[in-house]
Amino acid sequence: MHSQENNQGLVFFIDDEKAIRASVRQCLELADFACRDFARAQEALEQITLQFPGVVLSDVKMPGMDGLALQKAVQAIDPDIPVVLVTAHGDIGMAVEAMRAGAYDFIEKPFEPLAILEVARRALEKRRLVLDNRELRLDLAAAEDLDARLVGSSPQMRALKREIVNIAPTVASVLLVGETGTGKEVVARCLHELSPRRTRTFLALNCAAIPPQLAESELFGHERGAFTGALRPHRGRLEAAAGGTLFLDEITSMPLEVQGKLLRALQDREVLPVGGNTPRPVEFRLVSAANEDPQEAIAKGRLRADLYYRLSTVELAIPPLRQRGQDLPLLFSLFLERAASTYDREVSPPRPQFMAALLRHHWPGNVRELKNLAERYALSSRPEALALPGQAATPQGPAAQGASLAEQVQHFERQIIKDAIKRHQGDMRAVLEELGLPRRTLNEKMAKFGLSRQGQPEP
Ligand SMILES: Nc1ncnc2c1ncn2[C@@H]1O[C@H](COP(=O)(O)OP(=O)(O)OP(=O)(O)O)[C@@H](O)[C@H]1O
Ligand SMILES: [Mg+2]
Repeated sequence: MHSQENNQGLVFFIDDEKAIRASVRQCLELADFACRDFARAQEALEQITLQFPGVVLSDVKMPGMDGLALQKAVQAIDPDIPVVLVTAHGDIGMAVEAMRAGAYDFIEKPFEPLAILEVARRALEKRRLVLDNRELRLDLAAAEDLDARLVGSSPQMRALKREIVNIAPTVASVLLVGETGTGKEVVARCLHELSPRRTRTFLALNCAAIPPQLAESELFGHERGAFTGALRPHRGRLEAAAGGTLFLDEITSMPLEVQGKLLRALQDREVLPVGGNTPRPVEFRLVSAANEDPQEAIAKGRLRADLYYRLSTVELAIPPLRQRGQDLPLLFSLFLERAASTYDREVSPPRPQFMAALLRHHWPGNVRELKNLAERYALSSRPEALALPGQAATPQGPAAQGASLAEQVQHFERQIIKDAIKRHQGDMRAVLEELGLPRRTLNEKMAKFGLSRQGQPEP
């Protein structure tokens, strides 16, 4: 009725005279404004909120709450809602008082229809600007929040965060694919927190942790007596997530038969509890996660292809830690700081040699493994001697044998640059970005270490 899509905007018009209401409303609607008219100011006021997408046009002299009182009440809700007052002809005193009290403008009676349209158009433009700016500021706050939750400034993480900000406010189903410990659950929560659903439930369900014979009842619920031991009716997770976000973790561990039922529930937007015969409507945003390649899971018969398409309106890949070495020092010092304060320990920052060893590690457990290491580091009496699984604590190779610290650091620096060149297959722009080095510095270091774009020593 007063949707904003196809018109010039929404005007609330308040006047105690029915004939005037009808004519103003007709005039506004003919010019493609949406108009709601009210005989009493109080009725209009009840519908006004901080997000009110329109403007208020009101007569001043009315029984009950008059126009000036209404204007004050509206400004108390949101001082940025334009209020235009209609004053009696020649009542300059009233007009001046209204303007001083913060009215956006006034029109004198009797008024020309054109005058109303003109002032409504201007006031609505102002209102739209205010709301747009607020939206923008909200986005900035959301972006800062995202940086604190999902730490990392590597190009890969920055690209991922841009995507999160873009799709979080939508209802699109998102499938997160990444190795164990890469932060899939962190991303799922960010998608929820940056959406209008943030005030509702975030419900996480690990499909690998539900016994297969209970999966159906867990998801869709059951009626009393549906099976032995079902003493009470039980509300399923799909229903419990109503209005919020449902996070289905390790989706490829869900029994195939249940996958089929989940697909049907998603398509029909309703669930049939086990032992029931009346479907119940469900509404939630679905985020799911897999730590294996979904195509492979489909090929191996662990994931239904039709369900996969329904889950992955948007598919986000979360890169493994070993591919974003740039994030590692930041994450490690963050986790170290947190561990130090949790365990109330003094922790000295790791030496470059230790950091270099971290950078060479393969990190099969990704960020979770790094976090655990930081905790052990904070608790250990000889943290630098901590061994990474599959790697000796002290650096291997020629640099380790009796070399000075400076020599060892250079050795690792060379290794890091060489690895980056190899990883980006000689794309120097990507290497510069990942390492955060100016081009000249990188060229100098490559020359010094005898590295070429192929990552091999110069002949
Ligand atoms: N970018 C990040 N910034 C801060 N903390 C992170 C980040 N990525 C992961 N973590 C932390 O690392 C741990 C593992 O993350 P999470 O549980 O989200 O991984 P996952 O991909 O869901 O792993 P799994 O597949 O094993 O369930 C958590 O403690 C999480 O808080
Ligand atoms: Mg997880």
